[in-house]
Amino acid sequence: MHQDTIRREFAHQSSAFNVSPFMRSAEALTGLIDFLPLADDQRWLDVACGPGLVARALAPCVRSVDGVDLTSAMIDLATSEARREAITNARFSVGDVTALKWSDGEFDGAVTRFSLHHIPLPERCVEEMARVVRSGGFVAIGDHLGARDRADGDWHETIERLRDPSHWACLPLAMVQGMAERAGLMREGEKVVPFALEFDEWLNRGSGGPAARPLIERALRDRPNGVESFRVEVDGSGVATLHLMYGITLWRKPVLTVASG
Ligand SMILES: C[S@@+](CC[C@H](N)C(=O)[O-])C[C@H]1O[C@@H](n2cnc3c(N)ncnc32)[C@H](O)[C@@H]1O
Repeated sequence: MHQDTIRREFAHQSSAFNVSPFMRSAEALTGLIDFLPLADDQRWLDVACGPGLVARALAPCVRSVDGVDLTSAMIDLATSEARREAITNARFSVGDVTALKWSDGEFDGAVTRFSLHHIPLPERCVEEMARVVRSGGFVAIGDHLGARDRADGDWHETIERLRDPSHWACLPLAMVQGMAERAGLMREGEKVVPFALEFDEWLNRGSGGPAARPLIERALRDRPNGVESFRVEVDGSGVATLHLMYGITLWRKPVLTVASG
């Protein structure tokens, strides 16, 4: 059921997502790519790749990239955009990231951006990422974070779901860390950066946004200062900016040592 909602939502969002200034920005895209330990002999996987913004940014830095996503409209767009940009080492296919089709240890690295908050039981995605990278390989997770306080989080999530019915739950950083550790990964690095995007572009990109605007604006009036994970600021000329927190964590799969004798 939720997967049908995902497919509907991201068929609706595909073109707008692909040209979203924020999704292509240095803070959201280069800030993630620059954090990855890339080498030109590596094979990477972009998990829940959408229109392939991350995969296409990775492609010049590595040997090859695969991108996988549930929404065929996203995969079609990723494929045509890569062709338009003359990228020849990226390929894209439809698939569920909680049950990846690749064998154990096929990739040097796997990355996912802005996807975990759409996935019920996101630890299944993290486990799959850990499974398909080789021992010594890397897993990177970038997503906007949820509030640590339960009531703050409930308020934030309600607004997100009104705007985009495929939203499941933003995770506090500690939950992302716990999932990666339980998947057997070792922490290599992390950074949490505040980011800002145009509120109207964000609201209108979600299929529920335009209709839910009055309700969302009422919720915002209830908490004029927002919460740590979600805050809207309106400047003197009436332009609204949404402030979120972006957490990027980098993990490594332990190197297996075979006992001799
Ligand atoms: C917000 S978009 C992010 C796209 C891309 N990662 C990026 O940051 O540019 C979330 C994507 O997750 C995909 N998605 C959600 N659940 C999925 C699942 N179980 N398997 C594969 N893709 C999924 C959606 O189809 C959508 O394209």
